[in-house]
Amino acid sequence: MAQVTVRNIVKRYGSVQVIHGVNVDIADGEFVILVGPSGCGKSTLLRMIAGLESISDGEISIGGRVVNDVLPKDRDLAMVFQNYALYPHKNVADNMGFSLKIKGRPKAEIDAKVKKAAEILDLGKLLDRFPKQLSGGQRQRVAMGRAIVRDPQVFLFDEPLSNLDAKLRVAMRVEIKELHQRLGSTIIYVTHDQIEAMTMADKIVVMRDGKVEQIGAPLDLYDNPGNVFVAGFIGSPAMNFIKGKINSKDGRLVFVSDTGYVLPVEEGSIERGRPVIYGIRPEHIDIAPDGLPATVSVLEPTGSETQIFARFGEDDIDAIVKDRLTVRPGEEVRLRIDPRRAHIFDRQSGARL
Ligand SMILES: Nc1ncnc2c1ncn2[C@@H]1O[C@H](COP(=O)(O)OP(=O)(O)OP(=O)(O)O)[C@@H](O)[C@H]1O
Ligand SMILES: [Mg+2]
Repeated sequence: MAQVTVRNIVKRYGSVQVIHGVNVDIADGEFVILVGPSGCGKSTLLRMIAGLESISDGEISIGGRVVNDVLPKDRDLAMVFQNYALYPHKNVADNMGFSLKIKGRPKAEIDAKVKKAAEILDLGKLLDRFPKQLSGGQRQRVAMGRAIVRDPQVFLFDEPLSNLDAKLRVAMRVEIKELHQRLGSTIIYVTHDQIEAMTMADKIVVMRDGKVEQIGAPLDLYDNPGNVFVAGFIGSPAMNFIKGKINSKDGRLVFVSDTGYVLPVEEGSIERGRPVIYGIRPEHIDIAPDGLPATVSVLEPTGSETQIFARFGEDDIDAIVKDRLTVRPGEEVRLRIDPRRAHIFDRQSGARL
C-alpha cells in the first residue's frame, strides 16, 4: 500500500517560513494535484515528500512508514521534474534503463522492464534513437519511462508539461491519465495550470502562501469553493467578482453593487446590509431580453461559443455564451444571471456564505 500522509508540515529556510503546517491525506492509487500561484510552496512540498528537502517540522509517511529521516533513494518513489534532463549520449532504451543498471539489476530484467514501459508509452519504435532525434513530447515520454521502469510506489511530477506547446500538453494530459488508470499507482502532481488539475486529478489541493486553502474533488471545488481565492483560482475563464452589499428590494433579497447595480440573489439566510462579494462564473450568464443591460467592450468568438467582455456600469463582467452575436463594442447586451449559480462571499474574510 502506498498511501502518503503529510502531517503539520513546516518548512523554514533560515528564519523565513515558507510552508506553514500543511496536512494532506493521499490514498493508495489516488491522483492528487497540488495547485496554486507561483511561490506558494508546491515544489517545496513535493521535494520534501521526495526527500530532496529537509522537513523543518511535522511528519511525512509513505505506505504507513514515517520517512522524515529516510534517504530519497530508499523512499520507493520516482520524480519527474519540469526540466527533465535526458542523458544526451545514451539512446532511449539506455536512458530508461539507467537507474536499474546502476542498481546492478541483470540485463534481461532491465530489457524486459524497458520494453514494457516503452509499450505503455508508445516508445517501442524509438528505443534506438538519441534524445536530440526526438520531439519534445517524445522526450517527455522518455522522462516518464525512466520513472516507470523503476516501478515505484509513488510518482511525483513537478510541472512535467510546462515545456510543451498547447497541443502536446493536451495529448500528454490524456496519456498521463491513461497511465494512471493502467498502473493504478499513487501520483502527486504539481501544476499551476488549473485545467490540467481539473481534468486529471481525483483530488485537488489548492495552496496559497504556504498554506492549504481547500482540498476536494475537481467538480466539488468548482461547485463549492470555500472562499474567494479558490473560487477565482478554479474555473477558466475566472469567476466574476463584484463588490457590494446584500439588500432588499420589493420584499426580495438582492445584491446591490457599490456602483449601484442590482443583481439577483437566492433567498437565504444572509442578513441585509452585509458587505459581500458577489461571484458568478462567465458560463452561468446568458443573453436574454429580460437580462440586465451591459456595455460590450470586446467580443471573442471561438466558433463554438462567444466570450463577451462587458461592463455593468463600473464593474467588468465576462460572459461565455453559445450564441453568435452581431453586437459591436460600445453597444448594449442584456445579460441574465442565474441567482442559483451565484456565490456570495463575506467581503472581509472572503469566506463563502
Ligand atoms: N532554497 C531556498 N531558500 C529560500 N527560499 C526558498 C528556497 N527555495 C524556495 N524558496 C521560497 O519558498 C517559496 C516556495 O517556493 P516553491 O518553489 O515551492 O514555489 P512553487 O509553488 O513551486 O512556485 P512555482 O509555481 O513558481 O514553481 C518561495 O517563496 C521561494 O522563494
Ligand atoms: Mg515550483
